[in-house]
Amino acid sequence: MKLPKILLTLLLGSALASAPAEEPKRPLPAKHAKVGVLCHDCHRKENPSKAAVADDSCMVCHGDYPAMAAYTKHLKPNPHSPPADKHPEPISCPDCHRQHKPPVVKCLDCHTDFKMTAPK
Ligand code: HEC
Ligand code: HEC
Ligand code: HEC
Ligand code: HEC
Repeated sequence: MKLPKILLTLLLGSALASAPAEEPKRPLPAKHAKVGVLCHDCHRKENPSKAAVADDSCMVCHGDYPAMAAYTKHLKPNPHSPPADKHPEPISCPDCHRQHKPPVVKCLDCHTDFKMTAPK
């Protein structure tokens, strides 16, 4: 279909004007972007505007702490299993695996001598 130039300009103009109404974007690590994890999978709501992400959201797909501890049990130290007597509170998954920012390893806050890196 051939549109008059003026109409085409109007259509393009309105498409641009309506862009902010679309779902907001946030960068995700490559693997999550590739498999298409949705905002709702982690934030439990449409159009999230805050960082609140419960551990449970990650565990639905990845398994809980015991499962993750077993998965990386070959690592010393095991990032998913700090000795329970010295670490009564588990560290929340997204505290290390931040999703829209590079990951950090919270263990290093205290154990500056450990050599550990987290995958993006
Ligand atoms: C794989 C899980 C995951 C997915 C999917 C995800 N988020 Fe997040 N989001 C997080 C985590 C974890 C944080 C807190 C740490 C951080 O900022 O990276 C966060 C923080 C945020 C924040 C507050 C910090 C900021 O960047 O402004 C906003 C807003 C947000 N997410 C929006 C979104 C939107 C919109 C989508 C979908 C396009 C989305 N998120 C998808 C995990 C996720
Ligand atoms: C809807 C399911 C789903 C949710 C929710 C989810 N993930 Fe994932 N995640 C995946 C899949 C699928 C992969 C890719 C696995 C692969 O390619 O080996 C992945 C990959 C990862 C990787 C990279 C593993 C690697 O080998 O590099 C990490 C780390 C990770 N997820 C952590 C998290 C954390 C932390 C959260 C919560 C903030 C989360 N995921 C939420 C499904 C999910
Ligand atoms: C203290 C920081 C920290 C916390 C908290 C943490 N992780 Fe990790 N995670 C790591 C590190 C470091 C690695 C890299 C392990 C390696 O070198 O293979 C990793 C690896 C992973 C991987 C990739 C495993 C692989 O090799 O395929 C997944 C998936 C993952 N974590 C999910 C989770 C989930 C789910 C939680 C919460 C139950 C969690 N992590 C909590 C630091 C953390
Ligand atoms: C808030 C500070 C803090 C954080 C964060 C922390 N630890 Fe610890 N950790 C300690 C303290 C304190 C001890 C006891 C030191 C001692 O007994 O000499 C300890 C002891 C340990 C030990 C046994 C002693 C050693 O040095 O080999 C291991 C292993 C360990 N932590 C692993 C971890 C891992 C893995 C993480 C991240 C998942 C982590 N810690 C996060 C404070 C912390």
